Amino acid sequence: MKGRLIIASNRLPIVLTKEGKDWKVEEGTGGLVTALVPVLKNRGGIWIGWPGTTGDREEIEEVISGATRDSGYRFGIVHLEPQEIDGFYYGFANEILWPLFHDLQTHCNFDPSYWDAYIRVNRKFAAKIAENYQRGDYIWIHDYHLMAVARELRRMGIDSETGFFLHIPFPSLDIFLKLPWRFQILKALLHYDLIGFQTVRDRTNFVQCVKTLFKDITIQGRGRVLKAFTGEREVGLGVFPISIDFHAFARKAISDEVAKRAWYIHEDLPNRHLILGIDRLDYTKGIPHKLQAYKRALLNFPDLRRKVTLIQVVVPSRKRIPRYEELKTQIDRLVGEINGEFTESGWVPVHYIFRRLSTTELLAYYRTSEIALITPLKDGMNLVAKEYCAANVDENGVLILSEFAGAASQLHRWAILVNPYDVEGVAEAIYRAFTMPGEERQRRMKALRRSIREYDIYWWVDSFLRAGIARDLRDFPLMEEYIPQEVKT
Ligand code: G6P
Repeated sequence: MKGRLIIASNRLPIVLTKEGKDWKVEEGTGGLVTALVPVLKNRGGIWIGWPGTTGDREEIEEVISGATRDSGYRFGIVHLEPQEIDGFYYGFANEILWPLFHDLQTHCNFDPSYWDAYIRVNRKFAAKIAENYQRGDYIWIHDYHLMAVARELRRMGIDSETGFFLHIPFPSLDIFLKLPWRFQILKALLHYDLIGFQTVRDRTNFVQCVKTLFKDITIQGRGRVLKAFTGEREVGLGVFPISIDFHAFARKAISDEVAKRAWYIHEDLPNRHLILGIDRLDYTKGIPHKLQAYKRALLNFPDLRRKVTLIQVVVPSRKRIPRYEELKTQIDRLVGEINGEFTESGWVPVHYIFRRLSTTELLAYYRTSEIALITPLKDGMNLVAKEYCAANVDENGVLILSEFAGAASQLHRWAILVNPYDVEGVAEAIYRAFTMPGEERQRRMKALRRSIREYDIYWWVDSFLRAGIARDLRDFPLMEEYIPQEVKT
């Protein structure tokens, strides 16, 4: 790749908060930032996004440019008006696309005014890209907030190679058809040169939607990247499961600070198996289902009592959307119910933490928890599952994972897979993990870590960009996908 890289995502890779009169700027912690920064530094580049806040624009620009002066790449700031934040971010993105693409169509609010806001903001992002664009740049757009950016760029006369990666699932045909703007969204997506999905299942859903809604589009090929021929362009349809910086997690997890913290966690909860759940406050994460299953496990397998503790961390998110607030109330109530029913002197069954953890705390919990219980109802990938394994440096943890998380298609052979709606099944999985012999735990965790080490975030960036730039890259092998099987009991 010769040209620079232009990245656009809804949020900039920084977190901007106001403390009293002063702004605080922290670098984003996600794997995406870690993996893309070296590429941006090498090639030169720019990251375009929304600072996540309203306020005095000049002041925000000054603060960001001051704080990121030495980052090695530039930031392009897209300011949003309060009504754009409502219609585009809270509205179309998070009250329509988010629930629909996670198979929860009953949670959608198909307010017709949201579409205009979505397009207006996508156009704003495209204009910011156009302002910074130089011939030969590769443009890489991220996630469901920005599906129409390529269409807007083409209208502005920019026909440069443009890739898109969908971080969330793509729904099946019968769910997608409910979207009032189904034609517009698919058409908009087909203005990209490469569309990346997390799993084969997501891409298969997309292909089925395209074939059903557009009879004249042909799709050919096999392997990691297929080609759709629209008449106007050839669109690559690829599968690139996102990952984490494995080595960074493993390295930090063995630091003294983390080891000490991990020791204290167990010291405070002696002779307990710790079951860890870490989720953003979101109805897609299945937190109430998980709590019900844990309760069921305590009922069905009384020898778990006093011997396990569920540490459930919930990270606050999208608080202004009523569904999220309702969910918070529901979780609070369920935790209260379980603790009220089962607590005995010296044992509280659920430790509930409602805040973002510091990196040290997070790694200490990952490192020391015997079981991770990750049971989303639907998830694009779920990086917590991968982070837990990478930080589980003693290689004795057990991963219980929802079969509806994208991560299951990669990790299905070594995790205990569950259907999060099956309360009895998840309860049994908890008991199975609790009683799993040490040798089996090690064997599974070693294999999980090997897979995540091999397919890390650098592999992901590299494969996407190679597929985006080298148009003939069609079939390098795919990982074997997970197919649910009837469990015989
Ligand atoms: C998901 C999405 C991301 C999003 C994140 C946090 O992981 O795929 O694009 O940034 O949730 O949500 P928020 O609405 O706070 O950006």
